[in-house]
Amino acid sequence: MVLQQTVATITKVSSLIDRLGSRWARNSRARGHSSSQSLSRRWVVNCIHLRCSRSLAILHLLASGKMVNLGDVFPNFSADSTVGSIKLHTFLGDSWGILFSHPADYTPVCTTELGRVAKLAPEFTKRDVKLLAISCDSVEDHLGWIKDIQAYNSLSGDFPYPIIADQNRDLAVTLGMIDPDEKNAAGMPLTCRAVFVIGPDKKLKLSILYPATTGRNFDEILRVIDSLQLTAVKKVATPADWKKGDHCMVVPSIPADEAKKVFPEHKVHEVPSGKHYLRTTPLP
Ligand code: BEZ
Repeated sequence: MVLQQTVATITKVSSLIDRLGSRWARNSRARGHSSSQSLSRRWVVNCIHLRCSRSLAILHLLASGKMVNLGDVFPNFSADSTVGSIKLHTFLGDSWGILFSHPADYTPVCTTELGRVAKLAPEFTKRDVKLLAISCDSVEDHLGWIKDIQAYNSLSGDFPYPIIADQNRDLAVTLGMIDPDEKNAAGMPLTCRAVFVIGPDKKLKLSILYPATTGRNFDEILRVIDSLQLTAVKKVATPADWKKGDHCMVVPSIPADEAKKVFPEHKVHEVPSGKHYLRTTPLP
């Protein structure tokens, strides 16, 4: 909490310094100050700004040790969003949930991603998965950006999921989503493209981090959710490139006699080691 408050304060100071710097530069030009006077003012502003950015980077590194691990209850945060205030666990109810983060509004890759997820929304609903996006800008920015997302991706009507506002990076820091290589024009760190899948028990089932420069494949996210939902209730694991309907692997912890009863159609594959660990079964 102290760490988050410190990050929020430094973020505010940094953007204040940035605004002050721009105003100084405008005033200097208007008053006809010499270019050396304007330059020295700009230099002071840049120095303070750089210190803020460095402090933020260090704090983000410290905070990254606090990432939510698989099996942890996902933090029940409250946040402003495009549909009003959201408390995560209440928003999820008894459903599965996916929280996916974006570096910033009005950016090209994010615009394609949010559009793709909007198009796939019925697929997520079929799987009882609630969608929630987050981006490091204000609700006002999000609402304006949604119009661009819909226009670019040929979408219309209500936007099918909320976008959380995280302009102070409070959640980005808490959830370990900062991408140290990406900064906005003011030097503020941006989030990576994180994907968190949360189960109906509110525990983290999967997390994936992509850098800001690589857009995600949301068909893969749906595939992964199919696997998570199957393996949550059956003692199977899904092999490479598995798709719903394909054969699965019987998990190694099931002894042979139990495997015969639970998966009567399973097949044991002979391998040079002579070990019977490769057991496939039709979808149970
Ligand atoms: C994008 O969404 O296009 C983007 C955002 C931050 C860095 C690079 C790309």
